[in-house]
Amino acid sequence: MTGATAKTTIASLLARKRERRKIPVLTCYDYSTARLMAEAGVDVILVGDTYAEVCLGHPSTLPVTMDQMITIATAVRRGAPGAFLIGDMPYLSYQTGPVDAIRNAARFMAEAGCDCVKVEVDGGSADLVAAMSRATIPVMAHLGLKPQAIHTSGGYRVQGRTATEAFAIVRDAQVFEQAGASALLLEAVPAEVARIVAERTSLPVIGCVAGPYCDGTVVVIHDMLGYSAGHPPRSVKRYADMHTVLTQAFSAYAEDVMAQRFPSDGHSFVMSETESARLTQLLNSETEVGTHPDTENRG
Ligand code: KIV
Repeated sequence: MTGATAKTTIASLLARKRERRKIPVLTCYDYSTARLMAEAGVDVILVGDTYAEVCLGHPSTLPVTMDQMITIATAVRRGAPGAFLIGDMPYLSYQTGPVDAIRNAARFMAEAGCDCVKVEVDGGSADLVAAMSRATIPVMAHLGLKPQAIHTSGGYRVQGRTATEAFAIVRDAQVFEQAGASALLLEAVPAEVARIVAERTSLPVIGCVAGPYCDGTVVVIHDMLGYSAGHPPRSVKRYADMHTVLTQAFSAYAEDVMAQRFPSDGHSFVMSETESARLTQLLNSETEVGTHPDTENRG
């Protein structure tokens, strides 16, 4: 990992793969959290379409729009100027063909300052990835479980459990490397399959619930922070219990306000004694006029 000011690039990630230094990746959806990640030395950030689920409360990733993704990616970039920032292309921003894909990906690159975009792919998407990379857009090809395809793929289930399925994933990974992808993401595949993919490609391979053998790992921060209100967490290690921390803070605040412990004098602005005295004078004179509205007019 690098300091907040150095810029992480695809070349840095390739070097880390070669040097067998693992790459920690986190999702991020806002400026303040991005700043904390930069401070903590996490320098690869995915602005994921899981935003739809964990921040907007949708049951899937499908409803999030390009405009929403661009807004949050721009905010994350402001918080983490040196990070390698991956913009997750939302549902139907690229499945409709290379022209849409390039135009939308260009927004992530030019408007939001991303370093790369992620698209969910299968064997049939090689031409799309090739067209995007010819258009100078670095692409992370997302293989395995593809949450944007849940309605055609039979739901959220581990991919590559059979030899035939696993072989297809290994072959697709090679197809996308040849098509010009800059990185791969493997979601919900057995660790053994992820190991074979990572060994057979020179591209950085980031796993998501894909075991220990990938070059790096990504987790959805709401899952690792215990902050997945209403959303079943993916299987990840828990690093904090934000559910308890936040609910305790919210209820302590509500109790303080109701018991008039907050806000107190210590949390208020004060006037100088002179201004306060002047205000009292003004109020008194207004009260006299207000109480006797006709007095002044009578002369
Ligand atoms: O959108 C996202 O957060 C993702 C990860 C689950 C890999 O794509």
